[in-house]
Amino acid sequence: MHHFKELLSTALLIAAATAKDDFNPLQHLGGNSPWFAGPEVTGISSRVPSGCTVDQAAFFSRHGSRYPDRGAYNEWTNLSSRIGAAQFTLRSDKLAFLSSWKPVLTSPDQQIAQLSTTGYKELYDMGGTYRLRYPQLYAYNTDFTLWCNYYTSGPRVRDSARLFARGFLGPNATDLGSIYALNASAPASFMNSLAPSDLCPAYTDGGGSPQIDTWNNIYLPPIQKRLNKLIKGTFQFTQYDISIIPYLCGFESQIIGSTSPWCSLLTETEILQYEYAQDLRYWYGTGLGTDIEKYMMLPVLDGLVQRFVDGPNATYTNSDGTTFVPPNLMASFSNDGQMNQLIAALGIFDKEAQLPANNIPKNRLFRTSNFVSMRGTTALERLTCSSKTGAKNAYVRIRLNEVVYPVPGCQNGPGESCPLTQYQSIVKSKLKEAGSFSKICNVTNPTMPVNQTTSATFFTDVKLPFTTLVKP
Ligand SMILES: *[C@@H]1O[C@H](CO)[C@@H](O)[C@H](O)[C@H]1NC(C)=O
Ligand SMILES: *[C@@H]1O[C@H](CO)[C@@H](O)[C@H](O)[C@H]1NC(C)=O
Ligand SMILES: *[C@@H]1O[C@H](CO)[C@@H](O)[C@H](O)[C@H]1NC(C)=O
Ligand SMILES: *[C@@H]1O[C@H](CO)[C@@H](O)[C@H](O)[C@H]1NC(C)=O
Ligand SMILES: *[C@@H]1O[C@H](CO)[C@@H](O)[C@H](O)[C@H]1NC(C)=O
Ligand SMILES: *[C@@H]1O[C@H](CO)[C@@H](O)[C@H](O)[C@H]1NC(C)=O
Repeated sequence: MHHFKELLSTALLIAAATAKDDFNPLQHLGGNSPWFAGPEVTGISSRVPSGCTVDQAAFFSRHGSRYPDRGAYNEWTNLSSRIGAAQFTLRSDKLAFLSSWKPVLTSPDQQIAQLSTTGYKELYDMGGTYRLRYPQLYAYNTDFTLWCNYYTSGPRVRDSARLFARGFLGPNATDLGSIYALNASAPASFMNSLAPSDLCPAYTDGGGSPQIDTWNNIYLPPIQKRLNKLIKGTFQFTQYDISIIPYLCGFESQIIGSTSPWCSLLTETEILQYEYAQDLRYWYGTGLGTDIEKYMMLPVLDGLVQRFVDGPNATYTNSDGTTFVPPNLMASFSNDGQMNQLIAALGIFDKEAQLPANNIPKNRLFRTSNFVSMRGTTALERLTCSSKTGAKNAYVRIRLNEVVYPVPGCQNGPGESCPLTQYQSIVKSKLKEAGSFSKICNVTNPTMPVNQTTSATFFTDVKLPFTTLVKP
């Protein structure tokens, strides 16, 4: 059983589940799902294994629920204009909202790309949840350091870190919190930021093509035909319109705080087909179905694992010669692409077969709704389970949206955790497999520190030249 997360799950998610069937479309929208604690698909309890304590933890979180970006918003206004200009009658009550449908943003110029109110709530809740979960990792009214990607397209990633810090630290957050926003396009940050792919010229996120195109052409036409039969007149949905109905369902619901009428247009089977399209989008865009994209977050993971090996309360020397003791809870924030690259690096999906483009594998573990959702969070916990301390006696376990996922081949520790030093070897061997990042990235910029170690150092050095200090 989950503990607090159940109490904190939003009224919105509960409201969307119908009384007689607990299928909730908002939990099957891949990267467009609002936050929810994942289903316990692995059968491993998320309780700390008996006899163990968590003496260090870290998480990487996507920003919270948000308003659409400009491109998506333009698609919504385009659809609304086409509907508005058409003459039609409807043969289903479920479609009645269409005639007067307008995008739900009230101040689009200010809202586009920003966190939404549901996003604020997700992050405040998250701050409180983590503070209550790990009372041993933070001392009352003391300084707390966090990290985030600077993300130049808008402040939502920095704002997510700020709102988390407020929920975690409370009324003194602005004084106590220091968020280091890493500039992922500064050449000196090569493989040492929370968006390493920004400096990798050979990196291309193809959005899941060509596999997703094959799948879209299989599952979308029947839905298009079904819905268009219910509309008599000069408006008909295009195939592309159909592909954004679930997106509208997810975004509208979290923006307004109640279930969008778009959610009821698709059947459970159709929503699950969309969910699979999202899985293909991430698997073949930035995940294990790629050649180099899947390696991008390995140096960050390696740096984090070294932090666990060094143990709680370790002291480091910053690049300006001052000393730094990082917190025992390492909080960081970035975007969906980085979350998915990190998930590819973890090892937990290494035994999964490549995803087919023409049918849905029923028992797949890789379901992006369960970990790349808004505020999707990959957390690592360092466990000490006896009076013997030190890295050699520690274990690591990984939680995706709260749920423990084992690392195949390394699950002989308490609660199917992986011995920490063995996990470090797994990550090191993945780095070896990736090879030289300057080579796989086709780096030609001579100012990049391409010869440096491939382990990120930003967690243990807050005086790097490419950071901006942000206060909560
Ligand atoms: C909607 O977008 C399509 C495709 O880009 C374009 O051809 C059409 O003119 C747009 N319609 C409106 C009403 O903006
Ligand atoms: C905020 O910090 C001040 C100064 O350390 C302290 O007196 C006060 O109790 C703190 N507030 C809370 C809510 O802990
Ligand atoms: C990040 O680095 C780039 C490249 O050096 C620079 O142009 C930009 O101004 C920096 N951004 C911030 C927020 O420091
Ligand atoms: C990398 O550079 C080589 C040589 O210039 C080129 O042939 C290759 O296509 C590039 N690869 C990518 C993925 O950009
Ligand atoms: C880390 O330091 C804190 C504060 O000094 C202390 O309470 C805690 O026991 C230390 N943890 C370990 C594992 O040494
Ligand atoms: C990296 O190392 C190679 C081989 O030692 C050297 O030729 C090159 O100048 C170095 N590049 C940088 C940016 O330091």
